[in-house]
Amino acid sequence: MDLQEKTALITGGSKGIGFTVAVQFARAGMDIGITARTAADLEQAAEKLQSLGDGKILTMPGDVSNERHVDQWIEDTLEDFDSIDVLVNNAGIMRRGSVEDLTLEDYRRVLEINLQGTFLMCNKTVPQMKKQGGGYIFNMASYAGMKGLLGSGAYGASKAGVIRFTETLQREVAEDNIKVTAISPAYVYTDMANDAEVTKEDMIQPADIAETMLYIMRLSKAAVVRNVLIERYGQL
Ligand SMILES: NC(=O)c1ccc[n+]([C@@H]2O[C@H](COP(=O)([O-])OP(=O)(O)OC[C@H]3O[C@@H](n4cnc5c(N)ncnc54)[C@H](OP(=O)(O)O)[C@@H]3O)[C@@H](O)[C@H]2O)c1
Repeated sequence: MDLQEKTALITGGSKGIGFTVAVQFARAGMDIGITARTAADLEQAAEKLQSLGDGKILTMPGDVSNERHVDQWIEDTLEDFDSIDVLVNNAGIMRRGSVEDLTLEDYRRVLEINLQGTFLMCNKTVPQMKKQGGGYIFNMASYAGMKGLLGSGAYGASKAGVIRFTETLQREVAEDNIKVTAISPAYVYTDMANDAEVTKEDMIQPADIAETMLYIMRLSKAAVVRNVLIERYGQL
């Protein structure tokens, strides 16, 4: 995919991995829409993105688990950009705790944001991608979705769901010129991982995720990458 003047919608684009992906996509010449619940963070992120290139930057506050908000984001993006070429389902939360300690509210919110949010975004965007003749979808999963880790009873379950959901979607859109990739990293250096007992130097960097997405999108038409597992060097 030639990225110049293409459009991307990135959920959770105000900070962490989502923001770094937005930065790299903006540098590649794309128009970017970013979403998050905290409007002030979005505005700050947009200011930085605007200084990087000529592409348009659109900020859309809201909650990815809320169908009304997602409908509004899609409507606003299409009004400004006419297309959604790349969708990055990145918004997510972590609630660490044993199965005994997690509350039902923790469990519900993790699934609503991480899994239901990914479903809602794909549910509303795939018809548009079909109409425009194709697109690319990245779903942020996790290493915790591939292995049962301590304290990850809610988070890991949501990310395992994202991985299986991605596999189904890949099959459903296989003839629509829409490619879908799950990205499953171990600890990435962001606020989400700030309670991990791993130093910054030993963590994957947000730019590694952005570079991975750019690399995958530049592969030839026949090549598809279904799930990228990124582990930490030296991790056992
Ligand atoms: N960091 C890691 O070690 C790691 C490893 C593997 C996978 N991941 C995944 O990578 C993704 C990004 O994580 P990160 O580390 O960059 O986290 P982060 O720094 O905490 O950023 C999360 C982003 O998502 C937004 N967000 C959270 N809940 C939302 C909601 N309900 N609706 C809309 N936006 C929401 C946040 O903004 P607001 O709070 O303002 O809404 C923020 O922009 C997540 O899906 C995470 O599970 C992270």
